Amino acid sequence: MQKIIAANWKMHKTRPEAAQFAAQIAQELAKGTPEGRLALIFPPYTDIATVADAFAGVTNLAVGGQNFYPAENGAFTGEISPAMLRDAGAVWALVGHSERRHVFGESDELIARKTAFGLEQGFKVMLCVGETLDERESGQLKAVLSRQLSTAITPLDPKDRARLSDRLVIAYEPVWAIGTGKVAGPDEIVEAHGVVRSFLRDLVGGNADEMPILYGGSVKPANASTILGLDNVDGLLVGGASLEAASFLAILRA
Ligand code: 13P
Repeated sequence: MQKIIAANWKMHKTRPEAAQFAAQIAQELAKGTPEGRLALIFPPYTDIATVADAFAGVTNLAVGGQNFYPAENGAFTGEISPAMLRDAGAVWALVGHSERRHVFGESDELIARKTAFGLEQGFKVMLCVGETLDERESGQLKAVLSRQLSTAITPLDPKDRARLSDRLVIAYEPVWAIGTGKVAGPDEIVEAHGVVRSFLRDLVGGNADEMPILYGGSVKPANASTILGLDNVDGLLVGGASLEAASFLAILRA
């Protein structure tokens, strides 16, 4: 399976900063993307068109939105629609990122609506799941992952569910490892990804083994290759270490 290396810029970079980063990446990858890798950037909304323009014509390099509201248009001040993201050049969308859940209070139900709407609108959706430290320490890892996955996937039309593996990607990001420098250990990653894989088999059936599961949380050039080599790790979702082109390229080539 092709490994997906995704950069989540969160709330970083003005347009000139984004343009400089994107030009550097596009120039490097125009010489050839590392074998079997797909690079994805999730910039802030105002940078999407800048990054997408710089990536035009380069293969295995795509752009996504960090979030959207699940409606075509309407009185939703401060929100952005999938059509607006598409118009700016995004083909992917992140849904349910830990910061959306825990900083902005998004519920499993809202995340389920976004998952369904994003897919319906033709996006490739990256659904993020992960437990807090309290949840992990109180033995709720499986219960949390099961709830987050099933609320988002169960409502999808069963005939679509079996064909989701090229349109839905899962990112496992333990909340306690995000931006803390505290990367999950290999055993913890293998355990959680195994749990996600087995829930996916129940939820989507036949194609579950082809659905990519990415790891995110304090990924750096120094640990990327080890994490990518673990069972059921099909890619990485990188925050802080994706902000410098050299560091993102090192992870892409790990
Ligand atoms: P860090 O890589 O900064 O820990 O962020 C992870 C993340 O939230 C990516 O979506």
